[in-house]
Amino acid sequence: MSKNILQLDSLRHSYRMGQNTLEILKGVNFTLEPGEWCCIFGASGSGKTTLLNLIGGLERPESGRIIICDENLAAMSRRKAAAFRAKNLGFVFQSYHLLPELTILENVAIAGAVARKNFTDAKKNARMLLEKMGLGKRISHRPAELSGGEQQRAAIARSLINDPVLLLADEPTGNLDPDTGNEILRLFQELREEHPERTILMITHNHDIADLASRCVDLKNGILCKR
Ligand SMILES: Nc1ncnc2c1ncn2[C@@H]1O[C@H](COP(=O)(O)OP(=O)(O)O)[C@@H](O)[C@H]1O
Ligand SMILES: [Mg+2]
Repeated sequence: MSKNILQLDSLRHSYRMGQNTLEILKGVNFTLEPGEWCCIFGASGSGKTTLLNLIGGLERPESGRIIICDENLAAMSRRKAAAFRAKNLGFVFQSYHLLPELTILENVAIAGAVARKNFTDAKKNARMLLEKMGLGKRISHRPAELSGGEQQRAAIARSLINDPVLLLADEPTGNLDPDTGNEILRLFQELREEHPERTILMITHNHDIADLASRCVDLKNGILCKR
């Protein structure tokens, strides 16, 4: 057993645009240990979202290995990767990505059902998480009836429903005003204090976070390097 939650080996990815190949990731090597809260900084267009989507199994790398808890996600079939993702990973996005037709309770519970949890149990669990996020009175609201900060708290509840070992967040405060953004960061901090073993990998432009995170890295010229 490796002591790492995440290990990236020579991870490469490019996009083909007609005749041109856009090389985005040029051999990323990186490891994360349990309990780390690591922030990724980098210029817009440097490939941060691409990297997180690969780690989350939303896209497949051109080459390289993505080892999460000793399993190579990059070599799994799509079906296996989807099940692995649902069981082990949580996602928080800049623009929340809640399903507009569903209540926030359903949004959170469905993420539990995707991981083959019983829907009644998932709903119970979802309600508990939403209460913890301060949304206990809003569970039957649809996302459009909530503020940005509230939607993001619902999305965080969703990311936690399967008790993930690795939480991936792509600019989670990017669409929020500074005060609301800081509230969301404090929430991540509380979650971490409550579950010190859970690992967080977060893309951000917020430099205040350096005080909270355990490590900061830069994505530059297609590789991850120390800040
Ligand atoms: N599906 C895609 N097809 C072609 N180019 C893409 C695709 N996704 C992202 N890109 C390009 O890859 C580069 C990195 O994008 P992205 O990972 O979103 O960067 P960041 O999150 O750091 O802003 C950008 O130049 C972007 O235009
Ligand atoms: Mg991005």
